[in-house]
Amino acid sequence: MNDEQAGTGLRIAVFGSGRGSNFNAIENEIRNGHLPHVRIVVVISNNSEAGILDLARKDNIPAMHLSSRQFPDEDAYVQSLLGALQEKEVNFIVLAGYMKRLHPRIIGAFRNRIINIHPALLPKFGGPGMYGEHVHRAVLASGDRESGATVHVVDEEYDRGPIVLQRVVPVFPSDTVELLSARVLKIEHELYPEAIRLFAEGKVLFNDRDVVLRH
Ligand code: GRF
Repeated sequence: MNDEQAGTGLRIAVFGSGRGSNFNAIENEIRNGHLPHVRIVVVISNNSEAGILDLARKDNIPAMHLSSRQFPDEDAYVQSLLGALQEKEVNFIVLAGYMKRLHPRIIGAFRNRIINIHPALLPKFGGPGMYGEHVHRAVLASGDRESGATVHVVDEEYDRGPIVLQRVVPVFPSDTVELLSARVLKIEHELYPEAIRLFAEGKVLFNDRDVVLRH
C-alpha cells in the first residue's frame, strides 16, 4: 500500500453473484471493530436476484446490479464498471462468489489489489469449471484427506494468482458434498477477514510472482 492508500485505508468493492455469506462475515468483522480502516463502499453483482445485494441494502451499503447484458458492447460495460469503482473511490476489490471472469482492464487497473476466496487448497481443484459443489465433489472423488480454503490475489490466470492465506480442514470418509462445503465455508468466514486485515495493515508484500507476508 502506498502512503496515499494507507491514509484512506481500504475502500472495498465486494463483487458477488450469490448468497453473500462471505460478504456478511467481512461486514460483521468491520462492524465489530476488528477491521479498523476498512470499509465496504459498494457491492456489485451481475445477478439482480443475488442475496448479496439484499444483504448489502440491509446494511445500507450501496448495492449495484451491473451486467454486460445492460450494455451494447463489452467496452461500454467495462467502462461503466470502472466508472462506478472510481466514483466510490474504491482502492481494493474483494471477490466473494463472483461467477464472472473479471475483464483484464479491471485486473490491470487494480494490480495486486484484487483478492478471491476459493473453497479448496489451490493450486489443487482450481481453474475453469471448479466452482461451488464441483470443487467439493472433485475433492471427495480424489480421496484426499484434507481440503480447505485459499485466499489468493487475482491476476489474468484463473485461480492461479499468488496465494495470501490458506487453511486446512479434514475430509472424513463419511463426508458428503454438503458436510464438506459447510466445514470449508465456516473457515472461509474466518480466513477472508483475516486476509483483508493483512492488506489493511500493509503486511502483504509482493516479490515477483509470490506474496510475502510481513509479520
Ligand atoms: C464460497 O464458497 C467461495 O469460496 C466461492 O464462492 C462461494 C461464495 O459463497 N468463491 P458466499 O456467496 O460468500 O456465501
